[in-house]
Amino acid sequence: MKSTVVIGFLGTQLDSGSGAGRWEKWRPTVSLAQHEDLVVQRMELLYTTRHRQLAEQVRADVQAASPDTVVNLVPMEIADPWDFGEVYGRLYDWVRAYPFDPAREQYWAHITTGTHVAQICLFLLVESRFIPGVLLQTSPPKKQQRNAAGSVALIDLDLSRYDVLARRFSQEQENAVAFLKSGIATRNARFNALIEEIERVAVRSRAPILLTGPTGAGKSFLARRMYELKLARHQVSGGFVEVNCATLRGDTAGSSLFGHRKGAFTGAATDRAGLLRTAHQGVLFLDEIGELGLDEQAMLLKAIEEKRFLPMGADREVASDFQLVAGTNRDLRDEVAAGRFREDLFARINLWTYDLPGLARRPEDIEPAIDHLLALSSADTGRAVRFNAEAKAQYLKFARSPQAPWTGNFRDLSASVTRLATLAEGGRIGTPLVTAETQRLGWLWQRQGGARHALASGSQQVDLVALLGAQAAAGLDLFDRIQLQAVVAVCRDSSSLSDAGRRLFDVSRERRSVVNDADRLRKYLAKHGLDWEACRAD
Ligand SMILES: Nc1ncnc2c1ncn2[C@@H]1O[C@H](COP(=O)(O)OP(=O)(O)OP(=O)(O)O)[C@@H](O)[C@H]1O
Ligand SMILES: [Mg+2]
Repeated sequence: MKSTVVIGFLGTQLDSGSGAGRWEKWRPTVSLAQHEDLVVQRMELLYTTRHRQLAEQVRADVQAASPDTVVNLVPMEIADPWDFGEVYGRLYDWVRAYPFDPAREQYWAHITTGTHVAQICLFLLVESRFIPGVLLQTSPPKKQQRNAAGSVALIDLDLSRYDVLARRFSQEQENAVAFLKSGIATRNARFNALIEEIERVAVRSRAPILLTGPTGAGKSFLARRMYELKLARHQVSGGFVEVNCATLRGDTAGSSLFGHRKGAFTGAATDRAGLLRTAHQGVLFLDEIGELGLDEQAMLLKAIEEKRFLPMGADREVASDFQLVAGTNRDLRDEVAAGRFREDLFARINLWTYDLPGLARRPEDIEPAIDHLLALSSADTGRAVRFNAEAKAQYLKFARSPQAPWTGNFRDLSASVTRLATLAEGGRIGTPLVTAETQRLGWLWQRQGGARHALASGSQQVDLVALLGAQAAAGLDLFDRIQLQAVVAVCRDSSSLSDAGRRLFDVSRERRSVVNDADRLRKYLAKHGLDWEACRAD
């Protein structure tokens, strides 16, 4: 049998009483000595120094009722027993120094006495296992009970019914993650990990968040969802203000963002609050932040850091406390290097940066996204639409192939599914419809220059000197330089060596019986002294 040790605060109200009448009164700490079927070997009675007298009396009473119980008086220097930081700090220090011996003793943390703050601190220490024990709750006797000792209850936070409570937290979190993905059961591991982290940051942090990624990857969508999540968790109380910085130009840029006073410039007929003020207590989403002019960047930096700024034509600063989410499909590091984006502003917004991958980089998510979009469309039109098995396989094969660069990402997919759903006869999407749709998509991407164009422009950003060293780079013909740059650009845009190989040899692979794209690519890179890791690092 382990001995029982009770740890608890002296109840300055509940445990009080000095005359003989005190034995008629229910006193939680003393009551623990009054139960016939309960033996407490030791009590650690915590008290604030000014209640020494009461503590000594309670000790004497406990020992009178139960002579075998040892009562240790533990004085605590607590100036304000309602100050959470102080109480937790003192208690934590004491607990950390306490010689717990769980092999021989069991510990009950008594949470009926002490201020609510003290009770919460005890709970936290048990829950976090700093006190290796259970919670002890005592209650006064019911009216009809003759027994002055009242009752006791033990609460073991490790038991399954408290696990249920803990599970509810994780359920909450899963719901939030699903919400950020609008319920799409995405399968790409990297994307899922990314969204899980975004959920944690969105719920806990007020620091700026930067979303990067290609057009249509879902930056604006995610920014709004994050705002809604924050609103539901009471992180913000204001609105969601969305600004496309590409549409802010010249004089009006400053006034749109920071507001102006009447008469600040010709045409300023009335005061204007400006978007930053409108976002007070809410979220300001600055989309395409890379398009912002240098002057506006300087003012924005100040506004983020000091939460104050000067409207145009005003002589006094105004305050606005907003959370910033920024979006861009440019690489801001390049913009900084080119002197088009302020380094200090970049540093300020680059704390939480998330690069949303385009659809082509997470092909396994295309199917759940299609299912989601079809369900949406059915709910929208009231007409249920489904694929034939064969048609779905055909569509997916195309959608996941290098022929489908999904340059407009979610936007392209959404438009495509809408077309299929609208044209489906009798609620069924069949192969002829899919054939026509894939042709239409092919035509669309061809018109846009497709993936090849995007890659060609990406290739100009590949710095061969950084990659190979100045000497090796200078030793290459223009022909080889251009080819190597383009190949490295494809590698950087692909999720794996095989993926890059598939895209680079997309035509000839159809004619070969043995497919060895990854190997061909590996050999090509090796010829230049490169491997997959090296060409991905930049
Ligand atoms: N997870 C998602 N669930 C449902 N719809 C989505 C999701 N992600 C994006 N969309 C939809 O896809 C379209 C494009 O998304 P969004 O506007 O967020 O892209 P973006 O990255 O901001 O693009 P751009 O850089 O062009 O502004 C929108 O219609 C959006 O509602
Ligand atoms: Mg957008």
